[in-house]
Amino acid sequence: MELPKTKISHRDALLNAESSIAKIKDSVNKDLLRLKYHFMAPAYWINDPNGLIFYKGEYHLFYQHYPYAPQWGSMHWGHAKSKDLVHWEHLPIALAPSESYDLDEKGGCYSGSAVDDNGVMSLLYTGTIIRDGKVIQTQNLATSKDGITFEKYEGNPVISSPPEDGSSNFRDPKVWKHEDTWYMIIGSSKDEKGNALLYKSPDLRQWDYVGVLAESDGTMGTMWECPDFFPLGDRYVLMFSPMGMGDRKAIYLIGDMDYETGKFEWDVIGDVDTGFEYYAPQSFLDGKGRRVIIAWLNAWDWMPWFKNFGPTSKNNWCGAMSTPRTVELDVDGRLKFPPVEELKVLRREHYHHANTKVVPGVPLLPEYVGSDCLEIKVELQLAGCQAEEVGFVLRASKDREQQTLLSYNLQSKELRFDRSKSDGWSGGIQTVRLEASETLQLHIFIDTCVIEVYADNYRVALTNNIYPDPSSVHLDLYAVGDIVNLNTLDIWKLRSAW
Ligand code: FRU
Repeated sequence: MELPKTKISHRDALLNAESSIAKIKDSVNKDLLRLKYHFMAPAYWINDPNGLIFYKGEYHLFYQHYPYAPQWGSMHWGHAKSKDLVHWEHLPIALAPSESYDLDEKGGCYSGSAVDDNGVMSLLYTGTIIRDGKVIQTQNLATSKDGITFEKYEGNPVISSPPEDGSSNFRDPKVWKHEDTWYMIIGSSKDEKGNALLYKSPDLRQWDYVGVLAESDGTMGTMWECPDFFPLGDRYVLMFSPMGMGDRKAIYLIGDMDYETGKFEWDVIGDVDTGFEYYAPQSFLDGKGRRVIIAWLNAWDWMPWFKNFGPTSKNNWCGAMSTPRTVELDVDGRLKFPPVEELKVLRREHYHHANTKVVPGVPLLPEYVGSDCLEIKVELQLAGCQAEEVGFVLRASKDREQQTLLSYNLQSKELRFDRSKSDGWSGGIQTVRLEASETLQLHIFIDTCVIEVYADNYRVALTNNIYPDPSSVHLDLYAVGDIVNLNTLDIWKLRSAW
């Protein structure tokens, strides 16, 4: 099926998109690479999480979606809901391009957020169209009384052009309420420096420009995509995905917000996740007072852009969401991102080992612990240890020709994720320095083609895609140079959430 090229009613655009997905979803579900407990669209393309909200007792997740091919295309908003952040139920597509401000083959309904306006679920999103080669991005509103069927507001766009401090890159509104006023930040740029622009409104329809909330000093990217802003303890956090900041793809700043001046002054900078595949995290306040984030695990080769959509695209799907993580202020004022407790419901068979030694050249783990769906928690003793390296061989073939290495070098204090032998497609090595500690604690989630790793008490996260053969399920824990004392090791096989 094809995306309609001429003017169409919103309802017909949604029906078209739905029937395109209905035709293919059963065959997509048979693909062995489909993830078992990470969120995916029923078929075809997914990118940024949008409109995350806890609404009438349920979690809603919207997402950038192209329902006609396993690659980026004119953007729709896919939709799903969950009672526990683990099991998701797909709902009808919520937004489709249909209006003069969002109907375009290379545009569509771009990213945005959701708020509960006295029981009315209200989505704020960027309409993108291209006219005479120029990108036109406006901010728009769609509302729903039942949280399923959305009407675009007839007064759209609610913000029709960027202010002087912005540029034609003017997108991804994130809205929140402070006291009785709605606030919105929009990702933009000025003179090739990324920034976040602040607006305010009494009713989500009439918006006044306040000013630049925060901007790059020239070292933080040329455009800030998907900015997110929220209070945490007595501070505020600004997260964004910078374009043009090299490998750094999800940044956080911690500081203080002055609503009088509309300025955010920050003093801490960090990475939400340093993996190859973790982009555009969006946050929301859940029903339990926690700040939760979900990000897009982008499954494509970034270089060169838009040419390679990865191994799963052959099977008509591409991309997924990270598992939900909470955002917490650590004692030293930095952030940590532990995965939500709810994920424990996935645990099945448990393997436990304690107070033992990892001896170079001696296999420690029994063959049966291997699986393509695992949770691993380990604590290794580093104080006084003479070993050079300790680590896991993950998702390995029986002969270990195919393998992904997660290792820690005791001299350089670097954690290293090496996927040069993962699958013949992904490639790349990542290292992140961990602060000196008595022990090395790792928490690892493996799902068919995603690995999420946490270290340094959840202050470091590394998320990567790998595409090994389904039979590559072997797991080793190894040491190099000397014995490493193992305090505890827990491995759970995880069941599917679908
Ligand atoms: C980030 C992004 C957003 C935009 C959306 C379009 O991945 O580029 O800035 O709204 O994707 O799909």
